[in-house]
Amino acid sequence: MRDFFFSGWSKPLRRHLVGPLEVRLLRPADLEVLLAFAAERLSVSPTFLRRQLDARWGKESHERRGAAVGALDTKGRVHGFAWMDSYREEGLPLDGVWVRSLVVAPQARRMGVATQLVSRLLEEAHRQGEPHVRADVDEDNDASLRTFDGLGFRRASARLTEQTNEAWDAAGSTKRLIVLERDAAP
Ligand SMILES: CC(C)(COP(=O)(O)OP(=O)(O)OC[C@H]1O[C@@H](n2cnc3c(N)ncnc32)[C@H](O)[C@@H]1OP(=O)(O)O)[C@@H](O)C(=O)NCCC(=O)NCCS
Repeated sequence: MRDFFFSGWSKPLRRHLVGPLEVRLLRPADLEVLLAFAAERLSVSPTFLRRQLDARWGKESHERRGAAVGALDTKGRVHGFAWMDSYREEGLPLDGVWVRSLVVAPQARRMGVATQLVSRLLEEAHRQGEPHVRADVDEDNDASLRTFDGLGFRRASARLTEQTNEAWDAAGSTKRLIVLERDAAP
């Protein structure tokens, strides 16, 4: 039953249950719904999300650095989330802006939500003058690799891939990461 619920066959039913979704940048006023989603689906701390939304992602557009996007239903509930920021914000020695914590709730998967979330981040990166957007994905995460592939991301250089893996190894991560990048230009 669980397999059916999350399979392609159930997509029309899930689409009906979830209803229309709006994909947009998140603001400080979205914090409560974001925290409800985060408690269930994200490993990012509430303190971090609050601070970033207040100080960086949720600012008036000309001051915004990095960004957070959500897919919200008509009742304002979050079904998908991603953020983009510099790793240097967290002390990692890696340049550029990176897509982070891309997650879509199981009931809303395979409906193009992740694709729309990352597309919105690409637009925002372009507006903020970033030349490229990067992502690091566990090498066994086919769903995520295919999503980035579909958006035109390509494998980054061997050097950047090594640098990224070394930075994460030093931070205690054990999985091998594939590094992807794309121009932020539309
Ligand atoms: C990865 C993830 C974000 C994809 O979200 P999504 O909204 O279902 O993705 P999309 O509907 O935009 O899918 C885009 C394409 O990716 C591929 N894809 C996505 N999920 C897939 C899956 N489970 N199996 C195979 N291909 C998949 C397909 O090619 C799909 O296009 P299609 O449906 O037209 O065939 C979602 O599966 C998820 O939240 N996974 C758990 C968290 C995670 O791994 N996050 C990524 C961290 S880097």
